[in-house]
Amino acid sequence: IRHLGVLTSGGDAPGMNACIRAVVRTAVYHGIRVTGIRYGYEGILNDNFVAMDSGSVGDIIHRGGTILMTARSNSFMETAGQDRAAERLRIAGIDGLVVIGGDGSFRGAQTLHKRGIAVACIPGTIDNDIAGTEYTIGFDTAVNTVLDAINKIRDTATSHGRINMIEVMGHRSGHIALHAGFAGGAESILVPEEPFDLEAVCTRLIRGRERGKKHSIILIAEGAGDTMEIGKAIEKKTGQETRVTILGHIQRGGNPTALDRLWASRMGARAVERLQAGHSGEMLAVQQGRLVAVDLDAAATTSTGLDQDLYDLAGILSL
Ligand code: F6P
Repeated sequence: IRHLGVLTSGGDAPGMNACIRAVVRTAVYHGIRVTGIRYGYEGILNDNFVAMDSGSVGDIIHRGGTILMTARSNSFMETAGQDRAAERLRIAGIDGLVVIGGDGSFRGAQTLHKRGIAVACIPGTIDNDIAGTEYTIGFDTAVNTVLDAINKIRDTATSHGRINMIEVMGHRSGHIALHAGFAGGAESILVPEEPFDLEAVCTRLIRGRERGKKHSIILIAEGAGDTMEIGKAIEKKTGQETRVTILGHIQRGGNPTALDRLWASRMGARAVERLQAGHSGEMLAVQQGRLVAVDLDAAATTSTGLDQDLYDLAGILSL
């Protein structure tokens, strides 16, 4: 490739900037021209292009969000939009594209790959819900943000002897809830992947109280049900005062953790190297702790399951 485009698409995630930095600087190192595309696929359709060099990505490794902005494009969902996007890229002379985003963004990338544009995808979403990779950029930061919130809420839960419910993001997955809830010692973790019985949840809470537990923390993934309703039902069944906190978009911001910066940088650099070596239609992934490139088909069409061992262990350790 001679001219590389880079874009971020879908929900932003801490570490995306570190990734953009690595893409740009690796390309510059190999003598490849780089263009930043603003607002994701929408930016291709609008020729929202900006020339980038090493200096354009200075002072961003530590920043949350994405300097390239992001969007969820409706026009790009249509075949006509995809045809036009491929054409706009060709006219701009962009022959390779790095897409940083989630599974929706990857399905978009696949359509460009099929239209002859070389693409490499990098999993960037706080949800960690992309098949084929154990890790997505932003997940670690989000989990740590939630953990910080759990610690704070635990203080007040203790003082009042309440049941505090904390709703976290994750779209249809429970990875953030499971990992943060595990690390925060939550009494219960409610996730969409594991059907739960409210009676059983309350029986555990009551049993805990009988053993002397004064307060409880329950983590609930946004996809697991209506948190307010579940909170009310738990209060009714246990007779213990309950409070609900919905953490919301606080989970999407903040300085990326070291882990997010490391993987983001390694994935960004490898994406450029794979394109340069003539590969296309791949996603960079972490498998068994190693950085690999996998076929985009697998990543864009299936969803990933929870870490069952971790889920089971959470149940044992919170007894
Ligand atoms: O995919 C990331 C995510 O933060 C999900 O966890 C959440 O369901 C969704 O995006 C929220 O999207 P928006 O920023 O459009 O409200």
